[in-house]
Formats: sequence, C-alpha cells, structure tokens
Amino acid sequence: MKIRILLVLVSLLASVLIGLALATRGGRATGGPQDDGIVIGLSLDTLKEARWQADRDMFVKRAGELGARVLVLAANSDDTVQIGDVEKLITNRVDVLVIVPHDGAAMAKAVKMAHDAAIPVIAYDRIIRDADLDLYVSFDNERVGELQARFLIDHLPTPGKGRIVRIYGAKTDNNAMLFKRGQDRVLEPYVARGDIVIVHEDWAEDWKPENAKRIVNAAISAGGADFDAVLASNDGTAGGAIQALSEEGLAGKVLVTGQDAEIVALQRIAAGTQTMTIYKPLQTLAQGAAELAVRMAKRQVVVARQTVDNGHGPIPAALYDVVTVTRDNIVSTVVRDGQASYDDVYRGIPEGQRPPRP
Ligand code: GAL
Repeated sequence: MKIRILLVLVSLLASVLIGLALATRGGRATGGPQDDGIVIGLSLDTLKEARWQADRDMFVKRAGELGARVLVLAANSDDTVQIGDVEKLITNRVDVLVIVPHDGAAMAKAVKMAHDAAIPVIAYDRIIRDADLDLYVSFDNERVGELQARFLIDHLPTPGKGRIVRIYGAKTDNNAMLFKRGQDRVLEPYVARGDIVIVHEDWAEDWKPENAKRIVNAAISAGGADFDAVLASNDGTAGGAIQALSEEGLAGKVLVTGQDAEIVALQRIAAGTQTMTIYKPLQTLAQGAAELAVRMAKRQVVVARQTVDNGHGPIPAALYDVVTVTRDNIVSTVVRDGQASYDDVYRGIPEGQRPPRP
C-alpha cells in the first residue's frame, strides 16, 4: 500500500504515482453520480490557540467551495479522545482524514486504523511519526526556528552576544523539535564561542502559557533576571514569559520572540513588550490542505514537491514559507493579507503613534 515518491525528479511522475497508489487504496469512489458528495474528517488536537480556530474555519470554507463537507472533532489535547475521534470519523465513512496530532507518535495508530478502512490520511501542520502517511502539509518549521534565533542574535543589546532563556514547545509535538533544531543550527556557533549563554531552558508542556511563565519564573529565581532575551517558540509561550517579566518590571526591556502572529502578540509587538513573531499564512496552509484533501478524496493526481522523513520513510509533503514580523512590517504582511485587522492590532495604540493604514 506504500506510496513511493520520486521527489521533484519528475513531479508529474510523482503525481501520477500518488494518483495510482490512491486509486488502489479502494474505499468509496467519490464524485460518482451515485455518491453523496465528499466528506472530509478533520481531527484537531485542540481549539485552545486562536490559530487552530482560524485553520478550521478557513479549511471548512475552502472545502465547502469545492463541494466537500467537513466533520470536525477537537480532542482538547487528550490522546485517548483523539483516537476516539478518528474512530468516529472512520465509522462515518469519511473519504479522507486530515489530522492535527496532539502527540505525533500516539497518532500512528490512527493512521493504521484509517488505512485498514482504506481511508487516506493527511497530517496537517504537525507530522505523525513512524506511520505510513499519505501526505504531510505544513510550513517550513525548521526555518521558523532559524528565523527566530537569527532575529534574536541580530537584535540583542550587543548583537551576537548575550545571556538568554529558551522556551521550547510541547515534547509531544514534532514541530517543537523542528523549531528547536532550526534555532540550534543558528545558535550553535555563538554558544560554542561562549558569546551566547543559555542561562535556563525547558519545554512548555502542551504549549501552555502558564507553563512558559513558570519556566521564566524559574530562570529568575535561579539566577535573577540577568538575561537579555527569551527565545520563546510561539506567541502563547511568549505571552507567559512576558507575564513573568512584567512581574519584575522588565516587560519591553527584554527581547522576546514568538510565532503564529496571533492578535494578542501583534498587539504586544505594537506596544513593545514582544519583539517579533513568525507569520505563517494560515490561508495558504488551510486552503492548500483542503484542495489536496478533495483531490485525494476524488482519487485525483496530487503533486507533492517535497518529502519529510517521519521515521517510517520519506513522506510526500507540501511545506509553505514563513515571514519574520516586527513592529515595522505588521501592516505590510499580516494586515495586508487580512489575517489580522489594522484596528484590532492597534487598538491600544494612540492614533498618532500608529503606522499608516494599508
Ligand atoms: C505547533 C504549531 C504552532 C503553535 C503550536 C501550539 O505545532 O505549528 O503554530 O501554535 O503548535 O499550538
């Protein structure tokens, strides 16, 4: 049942291979006159972070435009619940499953269950490890980490030199490893020379802001607030870190990174308490994934220009690019693309201090 992809070589060949492999997967032939239309199963880890609500809405909208219905279930970061959700979606005989795993390893079982029911599986944003995935759609997550670390190094009070705290994401999330790997690649030479000193580092369970706050509190109680920056892996953890800093009167005085371009983070960047975030155009990801899911459901050719090794082997992948956002380009990126509104971002900022409207 394994799909072999000859990467990029002859993408058409690859696409034909995907098309052929899916055609042999059996399951319900869709789009036929007798069919009740395409049904996509969307299994989410959580709807806790603002971005997942946006992903869901954009995905469902695009799928709808393509004539497909989407059954959405969110597992509130509970693996047993997520496995149960997948069972429900399989019982509902969805044509294709799209999964944002809470735990990338735990959901390998879900892929097996789906394939036993001849349903193809797409991993959305986060990869499922050690499983015979049909497709992985995400952003270039190592590049996210590289851009965060690069920005931090270039914007320290003394560029290239400083003491930092590192907050990684959830250990259950393969993306957290990829963000860290990208950060490590950039930081390593500076750390090796002793120019950058990591005074404290830890993983924020389930990406919870309160866990990130605890990590910065621990850094402060261990060595005082004697650091120049917090390399936070996403906006949620950045928010927790800034809470801890503001308790020490340090909010806005210590560089803090982020990711996701959430509204609250863009407001912090406009106000100066957070320094940057990584903008991931969710429209591109959600629409791209919906289009690929509908093609898969219709057993049509799917072109994957990249692969990502998930431990089971090279998985066909579509990875989208990301953008560094600071106070200087919020309007020309996130606002211009409509992922955030100008008024929402600058709500707390006096008119005179706002950049011109797009
Ligand atoms: C990651 C995702 C990030 C971040 C985090 C917390 O997998 O790529 O955008 O939001 O989860 O949900």
